[in-house]
Amino acid sequence: MSNEYVIGIDIGTTGCKSIIVDNNGKLINSATEEYPLYTPNPGWAEQNPKDWWEATVKTIQKIIKKSDIDIKSIKGIGLSGQMHGLIPLDKDFNVIRPAFLWNDQRTKKQCEEIINTAGGEKELLNYTNNSMLPGYTGGKIIWLKEEEPDNYKKSKIFLNPKDYIRFCLTDKLATEVSDASGTGLFDVKNRKWSKELLKILDIPSSLLPECYESPEITGYITDDVSSLTGLPKGIPVVGGGGDSVIQTTGTGLINEGILGLTLGTAGIVAMGLDSFRFNSTGKLQIFCNNAPNKWHIMGVTLAAGGSYHWFKNTLCKYEIDLAKKKKQSVFEIINENIEKETEPGSKNLLFLPYLIGERCPYPDPNAKGVFMGLTLRHNHSDMARSVMEGVSFSLKQVYELITDMDKSLTADEIRISGGGSASKLWRQILADIFQLPVKTVSGSKEGGAYGAALVAGTGCGIWQNMEEATKVLKVETKIMPDKKNEEIYKQLYGVFKNLYPDLRKSFDILSEIK
Ligand code: XUL
Repeated sequence: MSNEYVIGIDIGTTGCKSIIVDNNGKLINSATEEYPLYTPNPGWAEQNPKDWWEATVKTIQKIIKKSDIDIKSIKGIGLSGQMHGLIPLDKDFNVIRPAFLWNDQRTKKQCEEIINTAGGEKELLNYTNNSMLPGYTGGKIIWLKEEEPDNYKKSKIFLNPKDYIRFCLTDKLATEVSDASGTGLFDVKNRKWSKELLKILDIPSSLLPECYESPEITGYITDDVSSLTGLPKGIPVVGGGGDSVIQTTGTGLINEGILGLTLGTAGIVAMGLDSFRFNSTGKLQIFCNNAPNKWHIMGVTLAAGGSYHWFKNTLCKYEIDLAKKKKQSVFEIINENIEKETEPGSKNLLFLPYLIGERCPYPDPNAKGVFMGLTLRHNHSDMARSVMEGVSFSLKQVYELITDMDKSLTADEIRISGGGSASKLWRQILADIFQLPVKTVSGSKEGGAYGAALVAGTGCGIWQNMEEATKVLKVETKIMPDKKNEEIYKQLYGVFKNLYPDLRKSFDILSEIK
């Protein structure tokens, strides 16, 4: 059989990535385009949807141009995108104001109002199975209603970032179950908008798009888009998925048993769920998975790779200069020094990674970063290692929340992805702290775009279902846990877990001092 191809497009926070993948799961090529993020007020995070679209068109043009394939064999497109956003469109489908992003912090008050209006956190969980976190779309809609009533009145439809791109590609207004879950307005158990909650919150359901399962075809590219990009006429666009869900799908996390770790700026701990679970504490996020009849559980540590980047930018000026001189990656230099100058446990130095507050395991915007246990015998590399270890401890705490909720969700392996997964040292630290094998698979470097390609291939009939699609993944690296490091990490993890409760009051006081 001659090859067939699919395109995956990811609308990320820093840029758009488009890739072409063949029916064996092989990456043919990829292109990325960045766009700006605006913070017009402290805590606000906005982007211009037009920038996303321009970047999408450019990346598609590039991958088509670079590819030595029969363009007519491209069978479909899948979309991935940053979750929890809000793009209001008017009656003529023009964007009314800049998009609110997932990391926008302006809606604390509105989220509290939603929880109260729903009758408290427990009642809200009964409607949606998720708490209303400040990043979620629901709070943004209420903010628009309260703070920009004219814009709210003008709004005909609210879309998530990737669904705006779907509209540009197909002229169709639609979303799918995984991204809809992250609005906080979706009945995750029954995989449909929560009409009851929308009614209580006085949000007309006509303001939300029709919702599909992730592999379902939601529309076909228009002739204009085909001429603009070089894509074959009329190819289908499937539902796709919210990035945090679909990037784990792209590493093969459909069923229970495999723990997914994404070491991006944020750190995501996730697992596929074979059946619906009630989110009894509200601390975790439980969303619909990209495979119909499957769910997805996760918790997000906000500064994972972000903590390591902060350490590099703030405390590694010497290494940065050396890297420039030697034309080597600064991360390689830092990691080589760690291997030479430190030992597992960083001589009992601990790091709390709450550099931008925290979401999970502690939903606390006042939480702060801490080095704990510094002595004269500690050096620069001990500090670097303890940053990696501190982030890994925090990820382990999220995993424990999952297994405390349901013991049957104990994992027997970790699949890792995201920028930080390139570090063999970090993968070994994770293997030792979790005492589990850590694997990387083909495609995991491509993030959400790869998952989107797998979902597209399933929707277009290349693969029968999502399980069959993920069979194209090949294990590329595997690190086994070192038994001799188990004890030191166990002891340090015990101390680490006490630090936040011990320091919480001090974090609050520090946040009050102007
Ligand atoms: C998931 C989350 C982020 C965004 C941006 O809950 O907030 O992963 O989707 O990538």
